[in-house]
Amino acid sequence: MSSDPLANKAQAWSALFSEPMSELVKRYTASVGFDQRLWRADIEGSLAHAEMLAAQGIIGEQDLADIRRGMAQIGQEIESGRFEWKLELEDVHLNIEARLTALVGDAGKRLHTGRSRNDQVATDVRLWLRGEIDRLQPLLADMQRALLDVAEPHAETVMPGFTHLQVAQPVSFAHHLLAYVEMFARDAERLADVRKRVNRLPLGAAALAGTSYALDRARVARTLGFEGLCENSLDAVSDRDFALEFSAFASICMVHVSRLAEEIVLWKSQNFDFIDLADRYCTGSSIMPQKRNPDVAELARGKTGRVVGHLMALLTLMKGQPLAYNKDNQEDKEPLFDAVDTLSDTLRIMAEMVGGITVKADAMERAARRGYATATDLADYLVKKGLPFRDAHEAVAHAVKLALARGVDLAELPLAELKAAHPLIGDDAPQVLTLHGSMKARTVVGGTAPEQVRARIAAHRARLAASAAA
Ligand code: ARG
Repeated sequence: MSSDPLANKAQAWSALFSEPMSELVKRYTASVGFDQRLWRADIEGSLAHAEMLAAQGIIGEQDLADIRRGMAQIGQEIESGRFEWKLELEDVHLNIEARLTALVGDAGKRLHTGRSRNDQVATDVRLWLRGEIDRLQPLLADMQRALLDVAEPHAETVMPGFTHLQVAQPVSFAHHLLAYVEMFARDAERLADVRKRVNRLPLGAAALAGTSYALDRARVARTLGFEGLCENSLDAVSDRDFALEFSAFASICMVHVSRLAEEIVLWKSQNFDFIDLADRYCTGSSIMPQKRNPDVAELARGKTGRVVGHLMALLTLMKGQPLAYNKDNQEDKEPLFDAVDTLSDTLRIMAEMVGGITVKADAMERAARRGYATATDLADYLVKKGLPFRDAHEAVAHAVKLALARGVDLAELPLAELKAAHPLIGDDAPQVLTLHGSMKARTVVGGTAPEQVRARIAAHRARLAASAAA
C-alpha cells in the first residue's frame, strides 16, 4: 500500500483498514453526486485557510504558491467540465484535495493541516448559502416591483374584499396587491436577518475540539467576508441553525407565493373572471380545446409543499443528534439546495407572470355590487347619527333582509324601504352605499382609501430604491 492514504481511499481509509468498502456502502455514504455544487466555496475556503497557514508560518510560502496554482487549475477543470469526479473519493472536499495533491504534490497534502472536513463542510455550506441569499434578495425586490407596477393604476379600481371568501367590503385592487408587497417586504427583512447568522466562520474548530496549531481565525474570517466566528468548536461543526432558519424563511416566502398563486387561479376562473393571464403562462388541455389553464400558478402553489417538506426534513435531521459532528449532517444539503432552487425559480416566474396580468375592472366592480359590501357603511352612518354600533348593526341587518327579499342591492332599495329599517336613516343615506364612497372613506393609516394606497406605493418604491442603491 502506498503512503498516501487519500490516493488509496478506493481500497481503504488508512493502514488501519483491512478490507475495502463494499460498493453499496461506497454509494450509500458518498455525497459527491450532489455536494459538488459547493466546489467554488470549497476552493475559496481552502485558499483562505492556506493563506493564513502561510502567514502563521505553519506551511511555507512555496507551499502556498503551489496550492494557489493547483487550485486555479482545478477551478478551470471543473468549470470546463473536464474534472473527473470520483465516487471513491466520497465528497467534494476529498475530490478536490486529491486532485490538488496529484497536481502539486506535498503542498497539497499540507493543506489540511489544522482543519477537518467537519469545519470545512460547515464553512463551505455557509459560504455557498450566503451567495445564494445575495442572489435571492434582488428576486424578492423584483417580485415587489412587479406587484407595485400592476397595482399603481388601480388605486380606484373597486373589487370585493372577502372574509370567509364571502363578499365583505369594497377594497381597491391596488390595496389587495399591496398586501402581498407587505409579505414579500417582510420576507426580504427576514432573509437579511438570516444572513447575519449564516455569515459566521466555523473553520478553526477542526474536528470538534479546536486545534493546537496557532491558527488566526479572525484573518480567515476577514478573507472570506464573514462577520464573526463560531465561538464554540463543538457548536461550530454541528450547528445547522443557519440551514433551518433559511428553510423557515423559504417556507414562509413560498406560503406567500402560494396564497397569491391561489388568488390568481381563482381570479382567472370563469366564475370570478377578474383577470386574464398572458398566453405564455397558460397551458392547454390535450382533450378540451377551449382550455387555457393557469398551470404556472398551480405549480407554484404545489411546489410550496416540497419547500415546507424540506424544512421538516431538516428539523427532523437535527433533533436527535448528540454533539458534535455526525454523518447525518451530510443529509442537510439536498433539502437546502432544492429549497434554494425551487424558491428562486418560483420567485422569478411568478414576478414575470404578475407582470402579464390584465385587470378586468368592470368584472371586479360588478362582483363588488353583489353581496351587500357597503352594509357596514350604512351601520357607520347610523353610528355617526348617534346610534350605538350594536343597534346600528341590527338595523342594517333588517335592511339587508329587505333587499334580499327583493333580490336587489342595498343601494337599489327604494328610499322609503331603506328608511323603514331605522328612523335615523335620512335622504342622504344612499350616498354612503356607493362602492367608491365606501372605499374613499377608509382613510385610516393602512386603509383602502386611494390616498392611503398611493402613499403606501410611494413608500414601498422609496424603500426598494434605497435598498437597491445600498
Ligand atoms: N461529506 C461530509 C458532509 O457533507 C463532509 C464531512 C465529513 N466528515 C466526516 N467526519 N465524515 O457532511
